[in-house]
Amino acid sequence: RKPVTLHSLRAMHARREKITMLTAYDATFARLADESGLDTLLVGDSLGMLLQGHSSTLPVTLAEMAYHTRCVARGLQHGGAAWLIADLPFGSYQQGPSQAMASAEMLMQAGAQMVKLEGGGWTAETTRFLVERGVPVCAHLGLTPQSVHALGGYRVQGRDADGAAVLRRQAKELADAGAAMMVLELMPTEVAAAVQADSPGLMTIGIGAGPDTAGQVLVMHDMLGATRGRLPRFVRNFMLEGGSIGDAMRRYVAAVKDGTFPDRVAHAYSAD
Ligand code: KIV
Ligand code: NA
Repeated sequence: RKPVTLHSLRAMHARREKITMLTAYDATFARLADESGLDTLLVGDSLGMLLQGHSSTLPVTLAEMAYHTRCVARGLQHGGAAWLIADLPFGSYQQGPSQAMASAEMLMQAGAQMVKLEGGGWTAETTRFLVERGVPVCAHLGLTPQSVHALGGYRVQGRDADGAAVLRRQAKELADAGAAMMVLELMPTEVAAAVQADSPGLMTIGIGAGPDTAGQVLVMHDMLGATRGRLPRFVRNFMLEGGSIGDAMRRYVAAVKDGTFPDRVAHAYSAD
C-alpha cells in the first residue's frame, strides 16, 4: 500500500470515495489498523477516558499526546501507510496562534502529519496561522468534548435552526481558513450534509453525524466492543461480525467504503 498523503486523500474525496478513520493510541493497534486498510488514524485525546480512566478528555496533557503519537508513529514506521492525525489537547492551543504552533510542533515532531483542534469562531485565525506555516489542520465541530462543561454534557448539537446556522457558519470560516479536514461529531444528518455542501473540497469526517460526510471515524475501543457502559447510538460493534480484531477493522473499512455504515436511521440523529 502506498503511503496516504493529503494529496491522495483529496483525490479520494474528489472521486467520492469515503475516507476511513479510527482512533489509535499505541503501536500494536496502529499496525493492525494500518494493515486492515484504514486511510487515516487519529491519536485522540479520548485516550484520557479509554486508557487513563478519566471521566473526560480535560486532564490529558500535551506531553501525553506526544508520547502516544510517538507510539502510534512507531507502529507505522515499517511500511505503514495511514495518514496520522493527533489531537491538540485541552489547554494547548486555546491561548491563540503562537501557543497552538508550539504545541503542533511537539505533535508533528512526534510523528503526526496533521493536528486537530476543537471549536469554531476564534479557531479560524489559529487554523490559518498553522496552515500558512505548513501544519495541516483538522477542525472539529458539533459536540466538542473539551467543552463538555460549557455544553452541559455530551449531547447532540445543532438540533435547532439557530444552532445549525452557527455550526454552518463556523464550518465555512474554518474551511476558508484552510482546514483540510473537519470532524463533525454528534449533529443531525442534515446539518452535516449542509456543512459538506457549503464547502465541497472540505473532507468532513462524521461521528454521529449521518452518512453524508466525506468519511467516518469511530473510537477503536467502541467498534471493538471493549468499551463498558451504554454506547451512543452511532456506534456499531464490528467485533460481533468479525472473527478477529483485524477482521473487525476490515469490516469497518468495507462498510464505510460501501456506504452501509453508518445507517441513515439507526446510527443518526435528526433535527428538532
Ligand atoms: O478523541 C477522539 O477520539 C476524537 C474522535 C471521537 C473524533 O476526537
Ligand atoms: Na478528541
